[in-house]
Amino acid sequence: MDKTRKIGILTGGGDCPGLNAVIRGAVECCLNAGIHVYGLYDGWKGALTGEGRYLNYSDVDEIQTTGGTILGTSRTNVMKIDGGAETVRARMQQLGLEGLIAIGGDDTLGVANTLRKMGLNMIGVPKTIDNDLSCTDVTFGFDTATNIAMECIDRLHTTAESHSRCIVVECMGRHTGHIALHAGLAANAHLILIPEFPKSFREISDFVKSRHVRGKKYTIIVVAEGFELAGASNDANLEEDAFGNKLLPQKDLAKNLSEMIEDDIRNDDTMPEDCKNFECRYVVLGHIQRGGAPTCADRVLGFRLGVKAGQLAANGEYGNMVALSSNSIVAADLDRAVTERKAVSPELYAAAELIFR
Ligand code: F6P
Repeated sequence: MDKTRKIGILTGGGDCPGLNAVIRGAVECCLNAGIHVYGLYDGWKGALTGEGRYLNYSDVDEIQTTGGTILGTSRTNVMKIDGGAETVRARMQQLGLEGLIAIGGDDTLGVANTLRKMGLNMIGVPKTIDNDLSCTDVTFGFDTATNIAMECIDRLHTTAESHSRCIVVECMGRHTGHIALHAGLAANAHLILIPEFPKSFREISDFVKSRHVRGKKYTIIVVAEGFELAGASNDANLEEDAFGNKLLPQKDLAKNLSEMIEDDIRNDDTMPEDCKNFECRYVVLGHIQRGGAPTCADRVLGFRLGVKAGQLAANGEYGNMVALSSNSIVAADLDRAVTERKAVSPELYAAAELIFR
């Protein structure tokens, strides 16, 4: 009988800079401990079909320098498929996998947590550019995403100023505004709108008007895609993905906001004459925030998390999520991580508000 220990690894949900660094850390650590690592393709889809390949040292050589994931990803939800969980169990048995390292956000880790409760050996690795997972100080991918968004917003200042325009910049962040807040603060956005702190359209448009009246002819507004105007719910009728997440691009948030602000200012008779032709533009940063090479911080954090996941597997310590806590990599409670969301704190938003003028 083959006594070689084998473990599976998968990446699920939206891709994220640093995924390959995690894979490398985990594979290096497991191989050194004599454990074979089977890379499942396309997230939970691979755990259902068994499609994948064994990863050797040469497969992971240098991959921490690249974005995306060498294993592919998908938003396949095992729990939405008839007999899905039992199929995963059977596939793991068939492949001889004693456990799985699941790298993902709340959706992917939620599936891992349910499988864990059914008695399967799981180790979670928290991943999302949105940085909204609890039990870890920060998620890898967030640093890259915020730096990309910051650079884009930096660039928008000069063109907005030259044309005396208001530009609405939409960042990712479907439930929370970590990316918008950090990138907006760093790039000196004049107003930052995030789901945690709703504002009314009147407050927003009056803010742009007040800047204009004070001689500040251009305005940069950074908005997180999950933001909703106070008192209005424009997300209710949107389609959903397999995990019940609303498909937010369908609501055209930045486009609608910029058109509403333009109309409101042009049609306000109390505003100076030049406002009759006031112009707004919008930019949706979208997947640019997730693409390309990870920053140094994300490569190192991803690698450290991967190594810890590999160590836990080598020790047969399953059932937890690896996490960053006060600059140490620790084992954290998977159950808590998937049930509590990390929002932008009131203190941080209040600090950012100091520059809203
Ligand atoms: O993974 C998180 C995320 O990047 C969100 O910020 C965003 O709303 C979503 O993924 C986009 O998903 P998709 O790549 O499926 O369009």
